[in-house]
Amino acid sequence: MLCLNWLLVGALLALAESWNVVHADDGSERNCSAMPPYLPPTAVNTTQRLRALRETMSSLNVSAYIIPGTDAHLSEYIAQRDARMAFMTGFTGSAGTAVVTQNKAVLWTDSRYWVQAERQMDCNWELKRDVSISSITAWLIQEVADSDGIAFDPFLFSIGKAYSRNLAPANMVLKSLPDNLVDTVWKDRPPVPSDVLIRLPDRIIGVCVCSALISGLIPRRSFFPLWTRPPVRTTPRIPETSHSGLLGKRHLFPLSVSGLFNLRGNDIPYNPFFYSYTLLTLDEIWLFVHKDRVTKEIKDYLNGSCFQANCVQLIEYNQVRKMLSDYLTRPGVKVWIGTEYTNYALYELIEKSLTSDYSPVLTSKAVKDKTEQRILREAHMRDAVAVIQLLMWLEKVVPEGKETEMTAAKFVNECRSKQKENRGPSFETISASGPNAALAHYSPSNETSRKLTVKEMYLVDSGGQYLDGTTDITRTVHWGTPTDMQKEAFTRVLMGNIEISRTIFPSGTRGECINMEMLGRRALWEVGLNYGHGTGHGVGNYFGVHEYLYFMSRCTVFLLEPGYYKENDFGIRIEDVVVTVPAPTKYGHNYLTFETVSLVPYDKKLIDTSLMSPQQLQWLDLYYQTIRRLLVPELDRQGLTEEKEWMLRNTEPLQRSTASAAMSSFSLTFTALATALIHDFI
Ligand SMILES: *[C@@H]1O[C@H](CO)[C@@H](O)[C@H](O)[C@H]1NC(C)=O
Ligand SMILES: *[C@@H]1O[C@H](CO)[C@@H](O)[C@H](O)[C@H]1NC(C)=O
Ligand SMILES: *[C@@H]1O[C@H](CO)[C@@H](O)[C@H](O)[C@H]1NC(C)=O
Ligand SMILES: *[C@@H]1O[C@H](CO)[C@@H](O)[C@H](O)[C@H]1NC(C)=O
Ligand SMILES: *[C@@H]1O[C@H](CO)[C@@H](O)[C@H](O)[C@H]1NC(C)=O
Repeated sequence: MLCLNWLLVGALLALAESWNVVHADDGSERNCSAMPPYLPPTAVNTTQRLRALRETMSSLNVSAYIIPGTDAHLSEYIAQRDARMAFMTGFTGSAGTAVVTQNKAVLWTDSRYWVQAERQMDCNWELKRDVSISSITAWLIQEVADSDGIAFDPFLFSIGKAYSRNLAPANMVLKSLPDNLVDTVWKDRPPVPSDVLIRLPDRIIGVCVCSALISGLIPRRSFFPLWTRPPVRTTPRIPETSHSGLLGKRHLFPLSVSGLFNLRGNDIPYNPFFYSYTLLTLDEIWLFVHKDRVTKEIKDYLNGSCFQANCVQLIEYNQVRKMLSDYLTRPGVKVWIGTEYTNYALYELIEKSLTSDYSPVLTSKAVKDKTEQRILREAHMRDAVAVIQLLMWLEKVVPEGKETEMTAAKFVNECRSKQKENRGPSFETISASGPNAALAHYSPSNETSRKLTVKEMYLVDSGGQYLDGTTDITRTVHWGTPTDMQKEAFTRVLMGNIEISRTIFPSGTRGECINMEMLGRRALWEVGLNYGHGTGHGVGNYFGVHEYLYFMSRCTVFLLEPGYYKENDFGIRIEDVVVTVPAPTKYGHNYLTFETVSLVPYDKKLIDTSLMSPQQLQWLDLYYQTIRRLLVPELDRQGLTEEKEWMLRNTEPLQRSTASAAMSSFSLTFTALATALIHDFI
């Protein structure tokens, strides 16, 4: 799954500028210049709710109110209860910011959503085809006369100061109002998610987190709040985090309360998190949660045989600001938080007591132990079966011309749902053919879904939640005859993926310091090709205990996702999850390399082996051997003979016969080492 980072936003904006905005003339979009204005049946009448909001605003002397599309945990996917932007505007897309003044109502969103916004909004709303904060603040400066008239809900903003920075030259300040004004006018607001929390089974918990906490693995020098986090896969990379926390930008960090206590909920789509905060001090562990969701069994589990400071106190979720503020009145309190995952409502209380901007625990545990490896691999094995079922099915049915991006996405979700321990998809499947695959962040809808044909390339980026793991994998295929250019581009993307995977580096090197960008892009750069997003980043396997371990180490699991996109034509991405494993080296100790745990072969038709080095080919064949070794028993166990044959056909050795003769002694050594290594971890 692609991460929407600044590079991408840039690309998106560039793309947006180059597009002519063409309106549909089929009556599916509003026409506010018609007399009377024309509204499609999908438009929501927001007159009443806007009037109510404006009344509330004027009673509080608020001239403009900012309504972001996120929740208090800055989640990418939110619960219906938090869909305030959608309630006010009618627009249900997953990204956008709305602003209401006494006489205007404006929505900012990016090009993915323009059509949808024109269909869902009524003429009370103006659409701004932009997403930058500077565009919003420029508009505010122009529209708002009083210097302290702009208000916002600090729970829905990250701690960055982009808004205030942009408004400062105009002598304007933002007013923080912790009671959300939309909530006051939202009569039938959906209730708090109330399903009881579940506890992860012991067998998949490698390390008891609570005991780590108690034994001091997590230093309890002071407290730091931790919250439920959105998907790990969108963790920003270094360039983004360094100017971290622009207000309203979603900063994601994988640590979660869910991970800390081994509890799970289903409050938001795609992520097994529940709404909560934790406050950890030398003397107490406070868990802020909707208390009636915690069963007696979980209470017993949380307290176990606890003693004093190690007992978990449950406190109502909405008390967090008050309790925190009380806590801060204690003399000499210093606070540790992670700026990446703190909302402004808590940060504005903590600001003066901060000891460090960074997350407190970043010590090393660079390699997962064997139990963790096994657990991780098992989820990926079952997941590979689902992806193989999709690819095999598409190969058969696409030539018949009946399937679309949507039906393919549905099919892979169904295949996953049949796998043991599956808990649904881990994000919205990107199922994209032809030019759609070149669009950043594209997911098919009824309106955009293309028919799949043997004439176009197809990219599928999908993942599943399993009780024992989270997966995320992208494969690009062609069912007909790819052009030479497509083949070359695909092969070079693959070469990038392999070059990173086979790198050996000293333990302790942070993922970001291994130059993944260079390694991933070199083969493309050689022929003047490139791509507009990051190549690899650390992820947590958050549905197991791995998220916590990731927190301890930051980088034991990575996502590699090199790609190439040709506008209006096709898109290529190859994405695999890799874990760090020990790499025996001739002279050194404590060296690591990556092991790919995603287990689906690449499209043979798109690989031009003549471009690849013997080492790369050898790596690939070794990877295919691993796939066979792991998937043959799994497919047998599931009785999937046809899938097994498909897998075997697609993992035949690719190495040129002449290549082996030319192979350097280095690569032979590498193979031997890597083979030993893989054996060691099965
Ligand atoms: C909107 O309505 C106006 C006035 O009737 C008309 O001229 C214009 O073509 C319409 N726009 C679209 C996109 O239908
Ligand atoms: C929207 O609702 C308001 C009152 O709630 C009503 O007066 C108005 O006619 C409605 N607008 C449309 C276009 O139906
Ligand atoms: C709003 O402004 C008026 C006039 O300046 C003032 O009297 C009133 O107290 C203000 N109300 C609030 C809620 O700030
Ligand atoms: C855990 O034990 C403490 C101390 O006895 C008690 O105050 C607290 O309510 C208990 N927590 C839970 C979750 O039952
Ligand atoms: C998309 O189309 C399918 C099949 O026609 C229909 O069941 C579904 O409700 C549509 N979804 C949306 C969001 O319109």
